[in-house]
Amino acid sequence: MTPEEFRRAGHALIEAIAAYREELGTGALPVQATVRPGEIRARLPREAPEQPETADAIWADVETVLKPGITHWQHPSFFGYFPANAALGSVLGDLLSSGLGVIGLSWQSAPALTELEMTVLAWMQQLLGLDAAFSGVIQDTASTASLVALLCARERTTDYLGAGGGLQTAPAPLVVYTSAQAHSSIEKAAVLAGFGRHHVRSVPTDGQFALDPAALATLIAADRRAGLVPCAVVATTGTTATTAMDPIASIADIARRERLWLHVDSAMAGAGMMLPELRHHWAGIGQADSIIVNAHKWLGAVFDCTLYYVRDPEHLVRVMSTNPSYLQSAVDGDVVNYRDWGVPLGRRFRALKLWYLLRLEGAERLRARLRRDLANAQWLARTLAALPHWEIVAPVALQTVCVRHAPPGLDAAEVDAHTQAWAARLNASGAAYVTPARVDGRWMVRLSVGAELTERVHVEALVASLTDVTRRP
Ligand SMILES: Cc1ncc(COP(=O)(O)O)c(C=O)c1O
Repeated sequence: MTPEEFRRAGHALIEAIAAYREELGTGALPVQATVRPGEIRARLPREAPEQPETADAIWADVETVLKPGITHWQHPSFFGYFPANAALGSVLGDLLSSGLGVIGLSWQSAPALTELEMTVLAWMQQLLGLDAAFSGVIQDTASTASLVALLCARERTTDYLGAGGGLQTAPAPLVVYTSAQAHSSIEKAAVLAGFGRHHVRSVPTDGQFALDPAALATLIAADRRAGLVPCAVVATTGTTATTAMDPIASIADIARRERLWLHVDSAMAGAGMMLPELRHHWAGIGQADSIIVNAHKWLGAVFDCTLYYVRDPEHLVRVMSTNPSYLQSAVDGDVVNYRDWGVPLGRRFRALKLWYLLRLEGAERLRARLRRDLANAQWLARTLAALPHWEIVAPVALQTVCVRHAPPGLDAAEVDAHTQAWAARLNASGAAYVTPARVDGRWMVRLSVGAELTERVHVEALVASLTDVTRRP
């Protein structure tokens, strides 16, 4: 494709994306994809084309073949999983990253990539109220960043065994602690980092689904008595099922006393820390060794854009660095080489999508949107709680409302079956999209408010859909 052909096809593609977003705004599309497994694949050719095709022909397939297979995360009635806002300003930055086609292997390979990344991370640090002692890097996802955190924890506790015999030569097994409500990526990271599933402790939670520090202390003591080596604790700000807030200050006290690495997973709730009124959930954050904030969730940066802040970047670099001759440059002593701050060598120009977002929206507008969503979630919880047979099953700390509809006369198992059935009916209707989940062994439904297009009127429509879908068998 020549630049001139790109110009023409590119204008058309931007126009098509803009039209798609406008169409989403009308609410006319069914939120959930309408295809069955295998249907899209069956409609696509089995072999790659030998001869060039036109961008128009590809777009026609997007419209007819792919579009029915899209669950519309940017739809105003998307209340599933978590808000993964892909603000259009951020889309421009992402496009630019692809268009520039540069790869960060070292500062020298892409100086602007490195220095813009440092700049937006410092901006975000200020916006989040994080103290200046932290240094940041952009990772792809929270899952990767948690893996990096646990690798760093492992290496600190073992005095860099990884540079020698590795965990195979550790005198005793190391243990990781996290709440029973932590995201599955924490256990996965612990397994990948070599701790072993048997050495991941699931710390009981309190009545609000937050990690219980007393239970954490008890588990640590038991492990020490058994000759194991407590290594890291992962606290969550905004757990996946219910957005529970682990008490970071109390956990940090234990971590300091017991010499544990403290990793704070604020993947979902991190964006909310831009609001001073929510920052009490981060009390004690200054004592963390590492922190994750997913800018690609509620904030609005296009996936993928995980902000990873660490207290000791030298330790991170010591764990992660490789220094082959072909990547060395004369300025290495004076610059940041982000390849030494994570797993991949090559890095996309991810800072652009966050830079575009922050500049085109401005912090004030971003904060206003977050506050709108918090207010909508509170309204939703109040409204449902006032209707017959609805229960709000967890505190509404953020923008997620966890609900159960329990008609009289049904036992727990029947309510569970009813919950799964009405959630499936609602999703199949296309009117809204929600996520059922189990908490404490019981089914409930998460109503995650916060898509960029979601206004009060859409939340009101959700209440009407919920009333309707739970009435019918
Ligand atoms: C609390 C929490 N941590 C981690 C993750 C994983 O995020 P990612 O997809 O960026 O790996 C999620 C995803 O929902 C989450 O809710």
